[in-house]
Amino acid sequence: MHTDIRAADFAAYKQRFLDYTDTFKDVPDAAPLRLKVEHTFKVFDHACRIVGSLENEAAPLKEKARDAELCRAAVLAALFHDCGRFPQFRQYRTFLDAKSVNHAVLSFQTMRDSDFLKEESGRVRSLAQCAVLLHNRHTLPPMLDADARFVTDVVRDADKLDIFRIMVSYLTSALPERDAVLLHVKDEPESWSPNVAEDVLAGRIARYGDLRYVNDFRLLLGTWMHELRFAVTRRELAESGLMDMVLSQLPKAEALRPAVEKLKAMLEECRNAGGLA
Ligand SMILES: [Fe+2]
Repeated sequence: MHTDIRAADFAAYKQRFLDYTDTFKDVPDAAPLRLKVEHTFKVFDHACRIVGSLENEAAPLKEKARDAELCRAAVLAALFHDCGRFPQFRQYRTFLDAKSVNHAVLSFQTMRDSDFLKEESGRVRSLAQCAVLLHNRHTLPPMLDADARFVTDVVRDADKLDIFRIMVSYLTSALPERDAVLLHVKDEPESWSPNVAEDVLAGRIARYGDLRYVNDFRLLLGTWMHELRFAVTRRELAESGLMDMVLSQLPKAEALRPAVEKLKAMLEECRNAGGLA
């Protein structure tokens, strides 16, 4: 029997999250925090859609749809995955983890200490907390058990899908928080870092620490296509047109062409994504 996860069933949890964010309303210049609230709700909606699409995936993902606790843990983790961004910004005035604190660890600690999931079973709580802790890891621990991996994958796919939206809006305009969102990289329209382009060609996920130019950000977003786990996320990304926009803004230089061609091919694969084997 397919687990029916409806966003409306989580209204009390959404309110709990809003009540929590309200405790940061005294933070000066808090526009970036308001964006995090918007981001959170979009990630939550994406997670609900991923969980709702599992019946169309191949095994073993399809079986996960029948485990109500797993699905519950996934959407709750999505709702609280960035709660640490609020104390991070209040204390350090930045979202740069390298210059402040690992926000996933802070989210995990906040979730645990505030007991946001106190009404849930121990299994739901620990799976959700584990996914929050791991949501921003460059690579996941190889020994992660299958249930924890699944819950973490839902949050990571949902998170990436919304980060694509945010990044594209900042890459295409001069919004006031642009510099903070793009982590203060240099805006030189014809520059990119060869090591980030190499990540594209090698099928690796680029690292935030390697980004020096705005174009590196575009390449990083492209490399994320490598690890989108769910067919619905891959298709949604392709259908959104966001990645086409990112690719169209990359320099036309000959040296970058192989990387751009590779990303275009990956985008076509996303467009045609079926269930994973
Ligand atoms: Fe995050």
